[in-house]
Amino acid sequence: MKKACITGITGQTGSYLAELFLEKGYETHGLVRRSSSFNTGRIDHIYNDLHLTYGDLSDYGSICNWIGAVKPDILINCGAQSHVRVSFDIPEYTMDIGATGVIRCLEALSKFSPETHFVQCSTSELWGSSPPPQNEQTPFHPRSPYAAAKIAGFWSTVNYRESGKLFAANSISTNHESGRRGETFVTRKITRAATRIKLGLQDKLVLGNLEAKRDWNHASDVAGAIYLMATAPEADDWVVGSGEMHSVRDFLQLVFNKLDLNWQDYVEFDPKYLRPSEVPALCGDSTKLRTKLGWKPKYTFEQLVDEMIANDFKLAEKEKILK
Ligand code: NAP
Ligand code: GDD
Repeated sequence: MKKACITGITGQTGSYLAELFLEKGYETHGLVRRSSSFNTGRIDHIYNDLHLTYGDLSDYGSICNWIGAVKPDILINCGAQSHVRVSFDIPEYTMDIGATGVIRCLEALSKFSPETHFVQCSTSELWGSSPPPQNEQTPFHPRSPYAAAKIAGFWSTVNYRESGKLFAANSISTNHESGRRGETFVTRKITRAATRIKLGLQDKLVLGNLEAKRDWNHASDVAGAIYLMATAPEADDWVVGSGEMHSVRDFLQLVFNKLDLNWQDYVEFDPKYLRPSEVPALCGDSTKLRTKLGWKPKYTFEQLVDEMIANDFKLAEKEKILK
């Protein structure tokens, strides 16, 4: 039986990857960090099918023990402090997990499981201020401590590949969302608030920059792309994105319209949600991934929005009944 390891298995993308590896027949392992409250909500439905181990990307020993014991066919590194705005408040921690954490994984693999195929969850944030559309040749210009950390993780992955040490690939993914998205990211913040407003549970939504544009994909489509990279004949760097871009304002308007609400009646601005340096526009050109590995997303942008609204509407209904 093939084995897959996932760091960040309790996060949004990690949970979809766990489902996918189980579906493909892999013995599926996850590294879970200790938390004072439950952090397995996204994988509770498959909890008994998984092999979970306590560990932390800041703790090299725990990664070595895990990799050494499992010796997986595939390791996907999804673990990170993934919030761009928060990275300005905790830059050192963000760098430790997002950059040195990657090197800890790469070193542990080199020592204990050099045949493992490794995929690093890199990001469209690497492009920063480079104009869209962006592809594998677009110059990087990171605009946050998060992106600066991720760029070190990206190049470390390339270096372990080019020095012949490992099969090490990068997924340069644009934004991915779902009903499992963390509630402080803008899409989920909007769908959560709009559905609660619709049911009278909330009366306003406070946001920052509405002009930023993003290429929003479904997280399960990105998990599918990462699987293709891990099982490809050669390790490489791959852009994942729909090639379609919408502003935060467009997303807001679409969600409120679908609920027959006028967003201007509820949305307020607070500068605390602005970034000290913003990334204006991201749009991933994934021609290479589509032509070489046959990737095709299952979700359209509108289907993603509909699923997120339906998911959060159900949550709001439950909340209302409890109240
Ligand atoms: P997420 O929901 O924030 O999940 C992050 C995961 O990392 C969680 O499981 C978290 O554990 C874990 N983690 C954080 N610090 C850790 C540490 N010190 N040691 C071990 N695990 C740690 O992020 P996501 O949306 O699934 O994204 C997955 C990866 O893709 C991240 O690396 C992110 O930077 C990258 N990425 C995301 C997007 C996107 O739009 N979603 C786009 C491009 C790249 P807890 O559950 O305990 O917090
Ligand atoms: N979070 C948040 N909260 N963002 C807001 C808000 C708000 O109240 N108001 C406006 N925005 C704007 C941000 O300024 C940004 O331009 C945009 O909405 C998207 O913000 P996020 O949803 O926080 O995502 P992100 O694009 O900064 O980062 C996500 O995508 C990256 C890939 O491009 C994260 O998932 C990163 O981990 C990922 O690498």
